[in-house]
Amino acid sequence: MSKRVRTAVFPVAGLGTRFLPATKAMPKEMLTVVDRPLIQYAVDEAREAGIEHFVFVTGRNKAVIEDHFDKQFELEHTLASRGKSRALEELGRDLPQAGQASFTRQQEPLGLGHAVWCARELVGDQPFALLLPDMLFRAHPGVLRQMMDAYEATGGNIIAVEEVAPAEVSSYGIVGRGAGPDEGFSITAMVEKPKPEDAPSNLMISGRYILQPEIFSLLAEGVRGAGGEIQLTDAMQVLIRQQAFTGVKYDGRVFDCGSKIGFLAANVVFAMDRPDIAEPFRAELKKLGVL
Ligand code: UTP
Repeated sequence: MSKRVRTAVFPVAGLGTRFLPATKAMPKEMLTVVDRPLIQYAVDEAREAGIEHFVFVTGRNKAVIEDHFDKQFELEHTLASRGKSRALEELGRDLPQAGQASFTRQQEPLGLGHAVWCARELVGDQPFALLLPDMLFRAHPGVLRQMMDAYEATGGNIIAVEEVAPAEVSSYGIVGRGAGPDEGFSITAMVEKPKPEDAPSNLMISGRYILQPEIFSLLAEGVRGAGGEIQLTDAMQVLIRQQAFTGVKYDGRVFDCGSKIGFLAANVVFAMDRPDIAEPFRAELKKLGVL
């Protein structure tokens, strides 16, 4: 039987240059979709999938993420004294339990692969989930939950994928698809940003992974890839020669909230999904002549 996945890693040390100046003093992962920061959606998704240890790889300007996952006594006292028990209860629900969150620093943004490697001591010798918080999913059940089902069946490494238009493959990491159904097929190759004519499929790697700890020793080599950064995909391309990788074409859709268009689209779609907001939001858009 495969070792249970208890720990999730959230890399939140990127510079977020595509979102400047919003990200000059504030991490991209605190940008809000409707009224929740991106990092909160990722933590909720991990919790739904049974994760018990939340590891954040932070960088400069990221103290606010630690504060977000801490109790705010002054705020709680004020809410309680004003009888706002619902808001108070919701705030409590968002928090990991005491001792479930760990923080480490990536001192320099040397790439996603390096950020993951920075989590090695906190993760230890066990499989772990990796969630890129700027990739936000509209999926029920959550994407990591869907991946856990595949993991329980196959073990090994799992990558979530989604179809993109063939012309867009050169913007993403793309996998080669072998045998098996959408819920768990064997991955034959991974290619970073291929030309459309070289792409093995149109299935993009969309920011959720379950990885075996052997990835850490490959990342330790510190090989610089595209953009001079230590790339996770490069290490996975070596690991796939030694271990099985399974793809999960999940039921749902991703919004790349690290890009302005993806972020704006997510705000509209998530607002329309909210029973308390959809109607007044639609009415406001109509009034403005947008709809
Ligand atoms: P991105 O590729 O979106 O990079 O990172 P970025 O630097 O955050 O943003 P841009 O491209 O400059 O706008 C994907 C995820 O990996 C993390 C980011 O915080 C994000 O969650 N990351 C990236 C790190 O933690 N460290 C890094 O060195 C790079």
